[in-house]
Amino acid sequence: MKMPKTIKKLTAEDVESIIEIARDSWKWTYKDIYNKEFIENWISEKYSREKLLNDIIRSQKDDGIIFLGSFVKSIPIGFIELKIGDYRAELLRLYLKPEYTHRGIGELLLLEAEKIMKKKGIVECILYVHKKNSIGISFYKKNGFEVKHIDGDDLVMEKEYKY
Ligand code: ACO
Repeated sequence: MKMPKTIKKLTAEDVESIIEIARDSWKWTYKDIYNKEFIENWISEKYSREKLLNDIIRSQKDDGIIFLGSFVKSIPIGFIELKIGDYRAELLRLYLKPEYTHRGIGELLLLEAEKIMKKKGIVECILYVHKKNSIGISFYKKNGFEVKHIDGDDLVMEKEYKY
């Protein structure tokens, strides 16, 4: 199905939507990996309003964080967040509402973040993805990331940029 999509920096008014997307996506993505209680605790702790607002403000001030949302009819349906260092970045999280997956939106979010990273001279981006998250791993491989090593339950993947 074709639908108009917009990608832009998230703002304070998107906080509740980010929490909802994260909760829905975590329940879908990790249903065979983590139990409900673990997921609920993770969302309340890592996606607290305070932490999200802090990251949104840093992204708006261009202060070491890129935090973008994908919007359909003005409603956020996915987000990407990266930590930006000197020449290096870490893709911290990329999550879509399950019903919006597999339609090219994840790729659009990543491409938009890569445009910003290019302007900042980033040459390498790493990420951690759970070793049982086959959809995530497949997506990142298709988008140029390679597995570098295993860290506990995660694969560490990396993409190099040559401009
Ligand atoms: N089933 C199987 N493969 C899928 C699916 C699906 N439902 N959705 C996406 N993919 C993978 C496949 O590799 C697919 O390629 P194919 O069409 O040749 O099979 C490719 O992604 C398609 O790319 P997009 O349509 O751009 O992917 P999408 O818009 O779905 O975004 C994302 C990818 C962000 C991983 C999304 O599927 C999602 O939110 N998944 C759940 C959350 C998740 O796993 N996030 C990554 C966690 S790790 C981290 O954040 C650092």
